[in-house]
Amino acid sequence: MTSYSSLYEAIGGSAVIRDIVTRFYPKVQAHPLLAPLFPKDIDPVMEKQYLFLSQFLGGPSLYSDEYGHPMMRARHLPFPITPERAQAWLSCMAAALAETSIPEPLQEVVIERLSGPANHFVNTDPS
Ligand code: HEM
Repeated sequence: MTSYSSLYEAIGGSAVIRDIVTRFYPKVQAHPLLAPLFPKDIDPVMEKQYLFLSQFLGGPSLYSDEYGHPMMRARHLPFPITPERAQAWLSCMAAALAETSIPEPLQEVVIERLSGPANHFVNTDPS
């Protein structure tokens, strides 16, 4: 049995995080609840998400090295995040993960890890 020291390593490291991010944002930009929140030029957001997800899943602390403490809930406060938007974000992520080489049980672990923060970022009542 192979043992991994982090989820980051287990899913395939840097190249797979890039793959997730590349598949995720087109779905976000096509989602009616999410698209209006994001800028047209999505490249800088993708790059930040690559840095953040690497660190969040136990890889190198790329985001903090560049931007300091993540304070992710605070960084999301300018955007009206309803429970529906949190669910939409997670379903885009699940769809992106499903297109990668990550085995299904690990996809579920990733979604479970992201569900906590996604729900925590809700800052606006349902519409
Ligand atoms: C709950 C639903 C979520 C919504 C609706 C949402 C929406 C957004 C929006 C609108 C931005 C700003 C884009 C811009 O720069 O203009 C952003 C940035 C970001 N989001 Fe989310 N997000 C959600 C959940 C998450 C989760 C769960 C994570 C990771 C755990 C995450 C990680 C990030 C990161 C790393 C950034 C870039 C922060 C920075 O500017 O440095 N988001 N998000």
